[in-house]
Amino acid sequence: MARTRSVPEESGGGRSLRARPRRLRRSPALRDWVAEVELSARHLVLPVFVRPGGGPATPLPSLPGIDCQSVATVADFSRTLRAEGVPAVLLFGLPRRKDPQGREAWSDDSAVAAAVRAVKRASPETIVVTDVCLCAYTTHGHCGAVDGAEVDNDGSVERLGRVAVAHARAGADVVAPSAMMDGQVAGVRSALDRDGFSSTSILSYATKHASAFYGPFRDAEGSAPAFGDRATYQLDPRNAREALREMRLDADEGADALMVKPALTSLDLLARARRRFDLPLAAYQVSGEFAMLRAAAAQGIFDERAAVLETLTALRRAGADLLVTYYARDAARWLGGGP
Ligand code: PBG
Repeated sequence: MARTRSVPEESGGGRSLRARPRRLRRSPALRDWVAEVELSARHLVLPVFVRPGGGPATPLPSLPGIDCQSVATVADFSRTLRAEGVPAVLLFGLPRRKDPQGREAWSDDSAVAAAVRAVKRASPETIVVTDVCLCAYTTHGHCGAVDGAEVDNDGSVERLGRVAVAHARAGADVVAPSAMMDGQVAGVRSALDRDGFSSTSILSYATKHASAFYGPFRDAEGSAPAFGDRATYQLDPRNAREALREMRLDADEGADALMVKPALTSLDLLARARRRFDLPLAAYQVSGEFAMLRAAAAQGIFDERAAVLETLTALRRAGADLLVTYYARDAARWLGGGP
């Protein structure tokens, strides 16, 4: 008598085939059981723009759905984020005025310094990371000090050290130098240590490619360079070995964590860095990646939630621990990260 088939015909039940990866995909429980990476709200970092002074939060036209906070609104905002399950913010400031040196960047009254104090008072557990750069503060829009038509590396590093110290003095947990100057991690580390901030961490934007995907951010910050471009300091997108070398240098200079950006164009670097370094790795899904996802979703091209979570999952799979994304609030909600 023929044996009864317990598996339906279309699953190919009769043939002898040793490897059937579909066996472990048959139910949500099985798929969850063998899933290789986890996406959870605890990894998220929300970039937050802050302008000086008071007044309500105002929409940023180039980043639909993202507001620019004021020093007055950012405290409440940080409580809201905490309640929503977003554990960390990355603060970017707008200056009152720009000058060729970018002096306001290292003022104790900068929007960032004031915002750090406000957030730490309102929501002490929120992890406060600050972007350490000069581009939003300089009239020429470059990330460092300009000497003639050149961006002066060592002079810039010295200034970045002052910016980091001002942020640390305000209470930042982590400073994130993003100017792509040589030796900036060492410079920031020694400036912090000299001023008694040996416990302030450095998240290095080690691998920052010169990218078209920063466009919406530069609109939001008003930080597009007035002459030239950033190709003399940001990485050439063709180079992966050089990117890994930048990471090695930053690790050796004392970075506590390494960041790669843009995220989706750097999956290869994340994967390679994950094998090479033991430091935490962050991926920054930058403004252009956000704007692209948002615009496509608004046109009904795909489901926003599914598309965004898929990109963030891919970053985790490639090796990222921390995910910096303008979608952090949405992702925390979708992942049920709230208390
Ligand atoms: C500052 C800085 C930039 C970004 C983060 N830090 C702009 C740039 O390099 O031009 C871009 C972030 C984004 O696009 O979301 N140097």
